[in-house]
Amino acid sequence: DQIPVIAIDGPSGSGKGTISRLLAQRLGWHWLDSGALYRLVALTAQHAAVSPDDAAALAVLARQMRIAFPVVEGQGKVVLNGEDVTSAIRDEACGALASRVAVLPEVRDALLDLQRRFRVLPGLVADGRDMGTVVFPDAALKVFLTASVSARADRRWKQLREQGVDANLNSLYRDLEQRDARDRQRTVSPLVCAADAVKIDSTDLDIDGVLGRIMTLVLDRG
Ligand code: C5P
Repeated sequence: DQIPVIAIDGPSGSGKGTISRLLAQRLGWHWLDSGALYRLVALTAQHAAVSPDDAAALAVLARQMRIAFPVVEGQGKVVLNGEDVTSAIRDEACGALASRVAVLPEVRDALLDLQRRFRVLPGLVADGRDMGTVVFPDAALKVFLTASVSARADRRWKQLREQGVDANLNSLYRDLEQRDARDRQRTVSPLVCAADAVKIDSTDLDIDGVLGRIMTLVLDRG
């Protein structure tokens, strides 16, 4: 029997990061934040002064990354080649660069095995854009989490405010639209809802509401 995977895909700001982390915690399973891997490639490229268009060089960098996701004092950290990059990969610039390098098939290919190595007992909750379609097509449960662009821009704005960052709601809205378009229109692993995924629209749901729906699906299939 295969080790169970729950795949949670959706656009930026749909809440899949928070939902997946909490779901993994509740089930006692591992968690893969695949977006963090694309962000790490972007950050590494920036450090190494590699152009975001140089697919071959980016793929080499991606294969050399030494990544750890330790939990320090209850907080999930991202460590790259020994350096704590938890906050460095979260800013909007790094996200935008990540979505540029993510269109390159060489980069996606370089990250494929790395992502599959997270499939460890007792199970994995994986979030991203292509978890259910490409990386774990045999996932036991696939969820496609959406929300309106304004709801997502609003959430991102509040999140940034809480971190003391003064963001502009209109530009967040435009950035989200642009990143959505790029993620949906790329030729390799575009953001699409898998045929066998359950769609959940979180525009009018809070975190507990979404989590409750997913837990019901998990129990129904268990
Ligand atoms: O989810 P997050 O915003 O951290 O992802 C950053 C970027 O990485 C996304 O805009 C997307 O282009 C890319 N990505 C991807 N495939 C994934 C996860 C993220 O292409 N599975």
